Amino acid sequence: MSVADFQHSFARRTQLAGGSELATILAGSPPGVLSMTGGFPNSKTFPTAELEEIARRLLREDSAVAMQYTPCEGLPSVREYLVERQEQLQGRRPETAELIVTSGGMECITLMCQALVDPGDPVVVESPTYLAALMALGRAEAAPMPIAMDEDGLRVDELEAQLADGLRPKFVYTIPEYQNPTGRTLPLERRETLVEVCRKHGVLILEDVAYRELSFDGTSLPTLWSLAPDLVLQAGTFSKSFFPGVRLGWAVGPSEVVAELAAAKQNTDQCAGGLGQRMFEEYGRSGGFERHLPAARALYASHWAALSAALESHMPDGVEWTQPAGGFLTWLTLPETVDTIELRPAALEAGVAYVPGPPFFVGDAGHNGMRLSFSHLTEDELGEAVGRLAAVVRAR
Ligand SMILES: Cc1ncc(COP(=O)(O)O)c(C=O)c1O
Repeated sequence: MSVADFQHSFARRTQLAGGSELATILAGSPPGVLSMTGGFPNSKTFPTAELEEIARRLLREDSAVAMQYTPCEGLPSVREYLVERQEQLQGRRPETAELIVTSGGMECITLMCQALVDPGDPVVVESPTYLAALMALGRAEAAPMPIAMDEDGLRVDELEAQLADGLRPKFVYTIPEYQNPTGRTLPLERRETLVEVCRKHGVLILEDVAYRELSFDGTSLPTLWSLAPDLVLQAGTFSKSFFPGVRLGWAVGPSEVVAELAAAKQNTDQCAGGLGQRMFEEYGRSGGFERHLPAARALYASHWAALSAALESHMPDGVEWTQPAGGFLTWLTLPETVDTIELRPAALEAGVAYVPGPPFFVGDAGHNGMRLSFSHLTEDELGEAVGRLAAVVRAR
């Protein structure tokens, strides 16, 4: 029997999306390998007992809503709760038409691409940035325009210079706190300048707040959306603060942009799952986030303390790393002579996994960078993982 070959049937854009690094991360690491790859929440933070009770109650008393299709924009009660939550956490209450429920943060990025990007359109990204966002921009045939970062995040002065030179991106994609992959946070002053500069040139901002609620000390800076709701589309997710299996997030921003996202959503999954929406709402309205987030923050803070101490004691001179104030991630810069893609097999052999730098960059940059996640290994495992990694780096 001959085996059919469908390669010739695939769309041209399948060649444009970049590598398979994300699939590698999601597939997990082989047994015995201590993995610092995925930005996965720690399963100890999953509120399983409360959710068991909520799920049971919903299936018994609310199945006609929770098990049914929902409006594309989300269940009205869930949107209302999200409107209240924006007001409570970000100090500004959106209109209902300014907010929709999404199936996670990644869907919102994809919807933005579908709604705004034509082939060849420039989109500004931080350099480095979230690799799945780069993949989505690739699929949309966008022209990503990298802007450098420093210890305080996006170099807004560089963006300003490019805009003054005539660059007109469809939007600026930024992750202002505990950035993926660097862990860096944009200070308030830069947030204000960013908004001012984008307003001057009429440029939309896509603000990704994936890790915002997971500062180590419980504090947070004003969001870009709260500073400029007419200019900022905020993509939020409950993957890190609730659990990723629920695939739930939100988009809030100018109503005409949000309406286009809702229209695009009719061609993805049509609506976020009703059961997850209702579980989230019941959990949130009963104070679940206030009950559980402090412990999650403390857990990630102590994981970072363990990783940071291990890096200090094991890493050779010439290796540097960022100092996150929240989230799951730190970024290591190795000496120029080290290539982190080439180093990976030796690291896996030694029983440790990381994500190499290049997939987070547009073009060929980042060969000596690597991203480490400290969210899901235990503190002892983090110490052991860094010991193994340092030995491999030293040998190189
Ligand atoms: C910066 C950033 N944005 C968005 C997402 C996607 O989140 P979700 O699981 O809600 O699709 C992630 C997940 O790792 C992320 O790190």
